Amino acid sequence: MIKIANGTVITASDSFKADVFIDNGKVVALGQMPDAKADQTIDATGQYVIPGGIDCHTHMDMPFGGTSSSDDFESGTIAAAFGGTTTIVDFAIQSKGSSMRAGLDAWHAKAEGRAAVDYAFHMIMTEANPQTLEEMASVVREGVTSFKMFMAYPGVFLVDDQQIFKAMLRAGELGALITMHAEIGLPIDVMVQRALAEGHTAPVFHALTRSEVAESTGTERAIALAEMAKVPVYMVHLSAQRALERVMEARDRGLPAYAETCPQYLFLTEDHLRGEPGNEWKGAGYVCTPPLRPAHHHDHLWRGLRNYDLSVVATDHCPFCMKDQKELGRGDFSKIPNGMPGVETRLHLLWEGVTKGKISMNRFVEITSTAPAKIFGMYGKKGTLAPGADADVVVWDPNKKFELSKKNLHMKVDYSPFEGHVVPGSASHVFSRGELIVKNDAWVGKSQKGRGQFVRRGTFGL
Ligand code: URP
Ligand code: ZN
Ligand code: ZN
Repeated sequence: MIKIANGTVITASDSFKADVFIDNGKVVALGQMPDAKADQTIDATGQYVIPGGIDCHTHMDMPFGGTSSSDDFESGTIAAAFGGTTTIVDFAIQSKGSSMRAGLDAWHAKAEGRAAVDYAFHMIMTEANPQTLEEMASVVREGVTSFKMFMAYPGVFLVDDQQIFKAMLRAGELGALITMHAEIGLPIDVMVQRALAEGHTAPVFHALTRSEVAESTGTERAIALAEMAKVPVYMVHLSAQRALERVMEARDRGLPAYAETCPQYLFLTEDHLRGEPGNEWKGAGYVCTPPLRPAHHHDHLWRGLRNYDLSVVATDHCPFCMKDQKELGRGDFSKIPNGMPGVETRLHLLWEGVTKGKISMNRFVEITSTAPAKIFGMYGKKGTLAPGADADVVVWDPNKKFELSKKNLHMKVDYSPFEGHVVPGSASHVFSRGELIVKNDAWVGKSQKGRGQFVRRGTFGL
């Protein structure tokens, strides 16, 4: 029996002083029990005890843009753990012309024996044809209960409205959830080609060719399709005010429209894509899709998180090294692999939001753990501190300052988009299924590689 003593437990709904007892990988009791005996006691005086983070949007070892994201399931999940995230949901890919079975098998092979914390999968669906629509049932039965479809990336991931609509209808039958990359990619591609033809090759043109309107229009369209199909829909990586307004309107009409945003859209701006005087190439490290937006969007997104119009903060962790990977787009911004590292720094940055009064501590727990657990069918096992839940527990020290810097972080990438940013708090202890794996920035778990387990998720539960 392990006892986390004298801390303040924070859940999505409550804050209370309690000791947390862990046995056999599970939370077994919470309460003020000064005399209760334990084999191991962690003193959490002055600290918060929260459910382990759930990052429901990662891309480990993903082939993309002519290369593969630089973190694999081993390095990426170790980094996640250091940052207080104990479960990730990664995107398996059904490649065009291939089956979901093949995609899922490939992702199991990437993760099994490598992941250091628990993991689940969404399935990226690049075709909704009779075979893939049929296959959705077996994928759902295997605990992969959400599908991502893209309105962007023509020729790679883009699917048309008819396919999206068919997949939504099928998801409705199966109790699965369609998640949408809601940027309209066909006009974006024209903008990109026009910019290149005019000689604009620098990273900032990634942002200047992917307008906020392309995202808000995609968002509106995805919501309309879901409304017609009478199913819930979840917008991934929402970045901008007008797209958020489309989600707000839908929710005000009572529609089950959900959206996540990511720390990069809350903290970084389009200006980061401009690089530095004399070094505009530095902006390549900030190329992700949708792009970073001008600073005024930040307040709208924080308000969306406070008001429950945004449900989740995930990372869209998709790192590429500046050397050899982002380099592919020198001289042509459209060839810069899209994505940024983030799986390790999400809780740090969101906690800064708490200290600045942007969100409450309970909302912090909700958007980083409880809501993704509920939306993606893991709640009860994950996403809360209650008897019977997996003992994925983080002791969060609100006074443990931490510098977000390449030298302190574990993600396998040669830069940090937040280099030098000092955050006010960080994890002192991280438990995964009852095992203390990280203590004061050192790995103390018995094993690392391969200790993570696949999480079979339930169907959409809200
Ligand atoms: O830039 C990004 N977001 N890369 C990952 C692919 C995606 O669309 O999520
Ligand atoms: Zn996407
Ligand atoms: Zn993504």
